[in-house]
Amino acid sequence: MRQHQRLLIVDFGSQVTQLIARRLRELNIYCEIRPYQTLDDAALRDFAPRAVILSGGPDSVTREGSPRAPDALWQLGVPVLGICYGQQVMMTQLGGAVESGHHAEFGRAFVTPAEGHKGDSIFTGLFATGREEVWMSHGDRVTALAPGFTVIGTSPGAPFAMIADEARRFYAVQFHPEVHHTTNGRILLENFTRLAGFTGDWTMASYRDEAIAKIREQVGDRQVICGLSGGVDSSVAAVLIHEAIGDQLTCVFVDHGLLRLNEAEEVVTMFRDHYNIPLIHAEESDLFIGALEGVSDPEIKRKTIGRLFIDVFQREAGKIDGAEFLAQGTLYPDVIESVSFSGGPSVTIKSHHNVGGLPEKMGLKLVEPLRELFKDEVRALGRELGLPEHFIARHPFPGPGLAIRCPGEITREKLEILRRADAVYIDQIRKHGLYDEIWQAFVAILPVKTVGVMGDGRTYDFACALRAVTSVDGMTADYYPFSHEFLGETATRIINEVKGINRVTYDITSKPPGTIEWE
Ligand code: XMP
Repeated sequence: MRQHQRLLIVDFGSQVTQLIARRLRELNIYCEIRPYQTLDDAALRDFAPRAVILSGGPDSVTREGSPRAPDALWQLGVPVLGICYGQQVMMTQLGGAVESGHHAEFGRAFVTPAEGHKGDSIFTGLFATGREEVWMSHGDRVTALAPGFTVIGTSPGAPFAMIADEARRFYAVQFHPEVHHTTNGRILLENFTRLAGFTGDWTMASYRDEAIAKIREQVGDRQVICGLSGGVDSSVAAVLIHEAIGDQLTCVFVDHGLLRLNEAEEVVTMFRDHYNIPLIHAEESDLFIGALEGVSDPEIKRKTIGRLFIDVFQREAGKIDGAEFLAQGTLYPDVIESVSFSGGPSVTIKSHHNVGGLPEKMGLKLVEPLRELFKDEVRALGRELGLPEHFIARHPFPGPGLAIRCPGEITREKLEILRRADAVYIDQIRKHGLYDEIWQAFVAILPVKTVGVMGDGRTYDFACALRAVTSVDGMTADYYPFSHEFLGETATRIINEVKGINRVTYDITSKPPGTIEWE
């Protein structure tokens, strides 16, 4: 199997380490983030990087026992780029000096090339206007260079903004090239990787071929089950695994009756008819909605749904003879180990999968072919595998589904009204060409009835709230600024087309202080 050129990012705990990986992946470069504590000399050599980037971090190199790079790094003979804390680590370990505290610098700054360095290959395509806008965020700063280093760029507040030992191809910057505020940071990262010999050999087509080979090797002639949620991640994982091992894969689709209009049919048709993937469709809406009767607390809703999901999945999976593997659509951000400075190394594994904990319970081994990918790369892989565009680009949808968009008690009647209103709203958004600008949009049906007048009659129906947010990762969000025309037209359509709703409101809460979902 072909090995990609590999770049190692040593994580010292910066808030923006993931962005380094994002920028490199955009350049078709394969990279992995490893926390500094997990890297000793042997692990470093074993990774066999073609280049190494040292991330920023919140600590101070002047503090006794603060994080360092493995000693072997400096003898590997590969290019190294230190960013912020990474620059200070480089200076400390190679014989320079760093001082603490006297000059914190945060925010925008401008760097210019040092005398005689404008033509350096690390600066190709930069300084067209004579200076570059960069983003600084540091408390400590370098005060003396290590032997072999020279200053190649400065800013008014940072005489060592950019330094290099070109013989050893060690570079270090005081600012953060990975953030968007550093306007041409991507060019700097690209120049660094080009001089390290990277050719951009990480493409989705090659990833697909390698992933297929890997799945075949792992699974052999044994059986795999995959829990389909109807979301992009599990769907892409299923289609990829099916390409690798065909009918050795069986998908289990637990339909809890809390999906959007026609969603269950779409999933079943796509997988069964289009991809010919063996699929068990467990239609269990009675079970789920029955168990949710009288439940209005959101956390009890979530727990009830999660518990039943596992029961049904386990029951259905148990019917598949000899299944030894469970496939999951785990993504790279879910598995990145992040550095915790309060309590030593910590592993943050965010599991949105309702089958969490099941593999151990059922004695199954995991197949996770998306573990190395970011969300947008999963979408690219989905396109590569021929999944329909409207499916790939869909907004995220929570595991508990419409249950958490129906504050208070759930009834079949309310769910049906909600489904119809949601379909009209999304149709409006698509018609106005806004779908891709919005991170997530949905309707919540409110637990309140209001009086209205339609024709000559009085109505007494439910009120609903429209929600639409922009976001990067769902952690923070802002409401989408629809035009008044759009809102008016959508409200009219919902009230006219959806029996049971006579009042429409628009939710203009950001996150924080609100959350995206209503529950
Ligand atoms: P909140 O409402 O917390 O949502 O701002 C952030 C993102 O997470 C989704 N979400 C969930 N996803 N199970 C899930 O799988 C859940 O219980 C859940 N709750 C919220 C939400 O749709 C949004 O994308």
